[in-house]
Amino acid sequence: MSHNVNLAIIYYSSTGTGTAIATEMAHAAEAAGAEVRIRKAAELAPQAAIDSNPIWAAHHAATADVPAPSADDLIWADAVIFGSPTRFGNITAQLKQFIDTLSGPWQANHLSDKVYSGFTSTGTRHGGHETTLLALYNSIHHFGGIIVPPGYTDPIKYVDGNPYGTSHHAVFGPDLGSIDDDTRNSARHQAERVVRIAGALKRGNAA
Ligand SMILES: Cc1cc2nc3c(=O)[nH]c(=O)nc-3n(C[C@H](O)[C@H](O)[C@H](O)COP(=O)(O)O)c2cc1C
Repeated sequence: MSHNVNLAIIYYSSTGTGTAIATEMAHAAEAAGAEVRIRKAAELAPQAAIDSNPIWAAHHAATADVPAPSADDLIWADAVIFGSPTRFGNITAQLKQFIDTLSGPWQANHLSDKVYSGFTSTGTRHGGHETTLLALYNSIHHFGGIIVPPGYTDPIKYVDGNPYGTSHHAVFGPDLGSIDDDTRNSARHQAERVVRIAGALKRGNAA
């Protein structure tokens, strides 16, 4: 049995911030020895809504080849990082729609005993960083998952200030969709921590 950690990063992003965080986390997790699957929840918005925002339309096209998540990705995973921009302080319908397809594997107890963590972004400074992550984590309790938040386990957490997960203030403008070094460092720390703890659990269960 391989003790390498299988990490699924399952997220949604309209304008690219979430994709940048997911990519940074994937690189960090791979460097830490994990096998990583990146999955982007399927778009639900009508094409007219997407086309009304050129940044959204460009990101939608640029990520067209990112596979959508499936229940198998969670069953395969030892650790799962979910990511969603905030929508009125909650997660997006797109990510929630995927989560709402999981009653089969949930009933079969295939979602429990894994490590889970989360990331988010907001359009305003205080517009829902913590509430979105806590809303996401509600479902993990129902899964019987093991939530591994970053807490203040690294000096970077005193910089970004969010112990619930990586979060980014995505300012509308020409840089929308990119993240700064603080968010990058936070994402890397969270991914490395998830891989390290999931690896310890996996090795412990195999012993
Ligand atoms: C319907 C809707 C609701 C939103 N609600 C909030 C909100 O409550 N607080 C906030 O700061 N930003 C809010 N935003 C802004 C998004 O969170 C922001 O655009 C997002 O974090 C960018 O992430 P992305 O580039 O990954 O799509 C909202 C955006 C939309 C479209």
